[in-house]
Amino acid sequence: MTTGNNSEKDGLLDFVRRFTDHDTFTVEEELGHGYVRLKVTEAERRQALQDIRCVEDVVKELVRNARDAGATGVYVTFQKERGRWRNITVLDNGRGIPQGLHRKIFEARVTSKVRDVVEDRFGVHGRGMALFSIKQVADDIQLVRSEESRGTIIHTRIDTTKLPEKKDQSTFPRLESDDEGKIAIAGGPHNVPRVLTELALSSDGLNIFLGSNAEILSTLYHDSVELRKTWAAGEDDVSRPVWFELGGIKEGRMLHGFCANQLGLCVSERNAFRILELEINPLMSINELVREGSIALPARRADLHRQPRDNWSDHLARRLNQDDISRISDSLQLVFEDIGGKYYLQAEAPVIKRRKNRIIISLGLHEKEDG
Ligand SMILES: Nc1ncnc2c1ncn2[C@@H]1O[C@H](COP(=O)(O)OP(=O)(O)OP(=O)(O)O)[C@@H](O)[C@H]1O
Ligand SMILES: [Mg+2]
Repeated sequence: MTTGNNSEKDGLLDFVRRFTDHDTFTVEEELGHGYVRLKVTEAERRQALQDIRCVEDVVKELVRNARDAGATGVYVTFQKERGRWRNITVLDNGRGIPQGLHRKIFEARVTSKVRDVVEDRFGVHGRGMALFSIKQVADDIQLVRSEESRGTIIHTRIDTTKLPEKKDQSTFPRLESDDEGKIAIAGGPHNVPRVLTELALSSDGLNIFLGSNAEILSTLYHDSVELRKTWAAGEDDVSRPVWFELGGIKEGRMLHGFCANQLGLCVSERNAFRILELEINPLMSINELVREGSIALPARRADLHRQPRDNWSDHLARRLNQDDISRISDSLQLVFEDIGGKYYLQAEAPVIKRRKNRIIISLGLHEKEDG
């Protein structure tokens, strides 16, 4: 009897749905630019599998959002502060968020995915709840910057005594490949590297990077240098992500300032300088790491560091190895012993630094001591 009643009701509902605008059932408020606030019932219908229970969930939701925004690159900085606070910045080159919605996206049930609910290996989403839920459990979440068609930067800070994370955040999952060569996860800790590997394996055309603030800055810097070359060559259709300006910066202090003000990334002046001197290498993407095959042995985060390659740039001094630098130093000492004698001078051991296309040699001088 009850069942009969219910199916009659469902039938009627279906009948009404067919003749009514889809939005009447789902939308509480139109917010413009394709954004809406969903009705509570609709948000509930789009139940996610789980709420935000750990740091790994936060990273997953932020990267999913970047992917849904059509990004081809997403850069995750993952840095711990005083062993307790986890700082995460996610930068993407997706479609960005219209100015008027920068605050609204953190409210409950606000979404742009009203018609196309997205389903992936983590379940159905498009409830407009992830950012709102993260805001409830994080110490802080900020939209640092977002520009239409230039991408988005979101920063969050989490107290890991309130929202836990897996202890091991360095090991990537073990992988296996099936007969057709398709790679899948075979085990390993349920940490952030694993969440990102899952997303990399399941999202076509999305390259995912993971590193410290300085490592990610170096990676973005190199990306921007390459983009600017194509741009300068007059090629149409070059994307200009929110980090496009980076590659034009030539000075450590400016790079440090740009990062803090425009990208919301804290990188010391010293590290900014080291990035410009190409002493901090850009990272390879997780996709590349997976392709290179860590099938037998699980990879670690350090494996994302690229080996120095000559074709990165015109960094000529990098080609000289330490042995040859020492030979230069020894010869110089020898030559100066001879020359310095004439002037009653003696030299300290030379200090030699490699800087892009030059080596800088400094030779401290003293009065020659008698005897
Ligand atoms: N990186 C991003 N790039 C562009 N738009 C974004 C980004 N992150 C969030 N948004 C916008 O903010 C809206 C709200 O995001 P939120 O994650 O809270 O909800 P959702 O993705 O719609 O659904 P769900 O709760 O299932 O994640 C999204 O619908 C999207 O329009
Ligand atoms: Mg989302």
